[in-house]
Amino acid sequence: MLHVNENYAKIKPTYLFAEIAHRVSAHLEANPGAKVIRLGIGDVTEPLCPAVIEAMHKAVDDEAGRSNFHGYGPEQGYAFLREKIAKFDFQDRGIDIAADEILVSDGAKCDCGNIQELFGPDVKIAVGDPVYPVYVDTNVMAGRGDITLLSCTAENGFVPSPSDLPDEGQPDVVYLCYPNNPTGAVATKPQLQAWVDWANSRKALILFDAAYEAFIRTPGIPHSIYECDGARTCAIEFRSYSKTAGFTGVRCGYTVVPKGLCAYTADGTPVELRPMWTRRQTTKFNGASYITQRGAEAIYSPEGQAQTKATIDFYLGNAKLMREALQGLGYTVTGGADSPYLWVDVKGDSWAFFDRLLKEANIVTTPGAGFGRAGEGFIRISAFNSRENVIEAIERLKGVL
Ligand code: MLT
Repeated sequence: MLHVNENYAKIKPTYLFAEIAHRVSAHLEANPGAKVIRLGIGDVTEPLCPAVIEAMHKAVDDEAGRSNFHGYGPEQGYAFLREKIAKFDFQDRGIDIAADEILVSDGAKCDCGNIQELFGPDVKIAVGDPVYPVYVDTNVMAGRGDITLLSCTAENGFVPSPSDLPDEGQPDVVYLCYPNNPTGAVATKPQLQAWVDWANSRKALILFDAAYEAFIRTPGIPHSIYECDGARTCAIEFRSYSKTAGFTGVRCGYTVVPKGLCAYTADGTPVELRPMWTRRQTTKFNGASYITQRGAEAIYSPEGQAQTKATIDFYLGNAKLMREALQGLGYTVTGGADSPYLWVDVKGDSWAFFDRLLKEANIVTTPGAGFGRAGEGFIRISAFNSRENVIEAIERLKGVL
């Protein structure tokens, strides 16, 4: 008899954004022609920038001729992209990360979900609450159900601290995401340094999701965990081009696993994680496509840098407009400054508030409860949309709220 992985029964039957998509489809069926404005899932709306488009067209042409054709590429990513990443995202910012510590992938979601395969089944996990559901669900699927939730509230500025951990049964792995999804909060360098010091003192690991780092505009806010002293010996970092350069549909990101970063066998023998992650990726993944990686490389050209920054500034402009409007309506709003997400305190049932905005204003948001217990009472609003739709959404919110 075929035995099922019963851990799947311990997670919600549908992924959060799939559940929202179902509700929106039902609403559209009941209200054909309703002009729904989608401020739910963080999916970009602006096209790829010209530098990326040009590079991808050229890459298509490469594939059209025998001499420049590319079949399987290196599973870790092409050197032309890894070298640019190392230089522009790290070394030029004074951070010690080399090209061979970077593994290119088809996005941060997959890497965040897959990385837990490197750890023993009994490792203890801690996550913020509210949290990007992928960190929790992938561990529960793998049988790690006993997850420590670190409350992220207005009181701690939505940034937990190692002092929030229980004295007994401290975690081996902590997921941190800053700028945060879903709250839009940012972590200061001392706050991240405290986690790095804690992890090094316990031979624990930080999984740092920096998917939204390109939205940071406030000087001094870390873009990378490796800005903290000692992070190379206790942290893996995930980056994504989805929000940075509009690659949600193109799919590309990367993970940094520094040389010398280790997990331990039962008898305490250190085992390097970089070769393990390389082994995992070369076994289960064939790499992001050549065309995609040429597109990603173009982000690092002077034109690509200017164009992607302009698009992010545009989304941040949307966020500012919505933040000010909601504050004007009397709501307390976090985020929307160094982040595309606004975390709005609605002081009530978040799914009910979601349903109300959908029914009365044709606006899709994300209910905070979908991100965990501590998300109840909030909704998340995404700034990824056209200016026209954002202005229209503000007018509708004013009408309804
Ligand atoms: C979100 O809306 O939280 C993100 O778009 C989801 C993702 O990046 O997978």
